Amino acid sequence: MHSRIYLIGFMGSGKTTQGKKIARMIGYDFVDMDKWIEEKDGLTISDIFEQKGEAYFRKRETETILELNSREKVVISTGGGAPCFGENMKLLNESGLTVYLKLSPAALQSRLVNSYIERPLVSGKSETELRKTIEEMLEIRESFYMQAAMVIDGLGEVNERIVNAIQRR
Ligand code: S3P
Repeated sequence: MHSRIYLIGFMGSGKTTQGKKIARMIGYDFVDMDKWIEEKDGLTISDIFEQKGEAYFRKRETETILELNSREKVVISTGGGAPCFGENMKLLNESGLTVYLKLSPAALQSRLVNSYIERPLVSGKSETELRKTIEEMLEIRESFYMQAAMVIDGLGEVNERIVNAIQRR
């Protein structure tokens, strides 16, 4: 089994929730990249975007991928944009097993509607705007997400399916 499992996918696809469960099931550590950056920088993601800008945040994501890529036995939930900038997707694929939690725009919308305040790229949008943003961003991002070693239907209880699949790798 791979020593590093990377969960990738759009905001609201369940990377953190599922990642914690999967880590527990296979006895691995769990790291949430956003939390890692927040702790290191002493700022929330929203504050980082506001005070330092998105480009700074994207640089921190790449640095974090490089910092974490020698950790052993770890499940890492990446930020929704992390695989989509620079060489990040390549770095992730070289370092471990990448798993894309794939969900439709409709499913993502219904999940994000309740938890989008802390996500600067979608916060403050009306329902229509949110849907449009998801569709537009997903269209660009899927070309990166689809480079994952495994693509998993993100609906329902996916942790057992992922654990079965990663144990066979
Ligand atoms: C982002 C996703 C967020 C966080 C930041 C930017 C994105 O992570 O990294 O708000 O660009 O999609 P989650 O996918 O964990 O919400």
